[in-house]
Amino acid sequence: MRERPSSRREGVGIVRHYSLLTHETSFLEDVLAGLARPQKAIPPKYFYDERGSQLFERICELPEYYPTRTELAIMDRHVDEMAALLGPDTQLVEFGSGAGVKTRLLVDRLEPSLYVPIDIAESTLREACKRLALMFPWLNISAVLADFARPVRLPEFVGVPVRRKVVYFPGSTIGNFTPDEAVAFLEGVRELVGAGGMLLIGVDLKKDKRVLDAAYDDAQGVTAEFNLNLLHRINRELGGDFQVKRFRHKAFYDEHKGWIEMHLESLYSQFAHVAGRRFDFRVGETIHSEISCKYSVEEFQALAARARFHAEKVWTDPANLFAVHAMIAV
Ligand code: AVI
Repeated sequence: MRERPSSRREGVGIVRHYSLLTHETSFLEDVLAGLARPQKAIPPKYFYDERGSQLFERICELPEYYPTRTELAIMDRHVDEMAALLGPDTQLVEFGSGAGVKTRLLVDRLEPSLYVPIDIAESTLREACKRLALMFPWLNISAVLADFARPVRLPEFVGVPVRRKVVYFPGSTIGNFTPDEAVAFLEGVRELVGAGGMLLIGVDLKKDKRVLDAAYDDAQGVTAEFNLNLLHRINRELGGDFQVKRFRHKAFYDEHKGWIEMHLESLYSQFAHVAGRRFDFRVGETIHSEISCKYSVEEFQALAARARFHAEKVWTDPANLFAVHAMIAV
């Protein structure tokens, strides 16, 4: 961190909390609808209960899971250049709680006028804000509880001078949308930042299938536990009776589609109940739980252009595993 604070750092920041969560966000409804489909499916946002968030943190430390440490190394190396490109007096909106080291690096160098983390998990969001406020006492924080898989309309934050809105979306979470969903999401971001606003986004690159398969099916079985936790969560929160041991984690990179697919595969012919409804499974039948799209630099630039974002700069690591794109809304 910087040794000599700039004048902005002499102030005392304010932390405010807003909730935009509506009843539309329903775990039960999404599970019942998803399990009734011909290809059973559950949206990946439901991975992240307390246990799931802990498991995800462990995934990020795994030797096979390169994205987290690679993106961090890119940020560490280029954050000064990134901050200079984004410029002063920004409103920095982060999709995600901002609990990570990457956020701290960016906030430290960018010194935004206002920092707006958006997350669906209230406790994670509150904890992250507390930690950031301790670390950066000068930082104004307006935390927003919302499901960013749906369009988010932010309140007008008054009282802080803002020259430019910047969205920070690290972690290659954009990959958990299909390409068409990603374009729709970026259109929402475009509306949020307005013309001249910017996007700083971490995107996982296409690479050797063996590297990708290992990253999503690690030797210690942490990703398997993360995936199977969805069934435990249904049992815990929705009164389900899944026999979790009768399912297995399945993850593979589909080179044709350019994405990882994660499934929960039934090892037996069996059934389970959720909220009194019965769901049957054949041997080998799966619940589709996640995709994780991988994009070359050019593919991602073309995708973002569909949402009227123009590529400004891209940083990658020496092994070409991961990319961080700076883009401007035109
Ligand atoms: C959060 N997201 C970007 C992770 C990914 O790599 O797609 C989620 C994950 N699933 C399995 N491992 C990690």
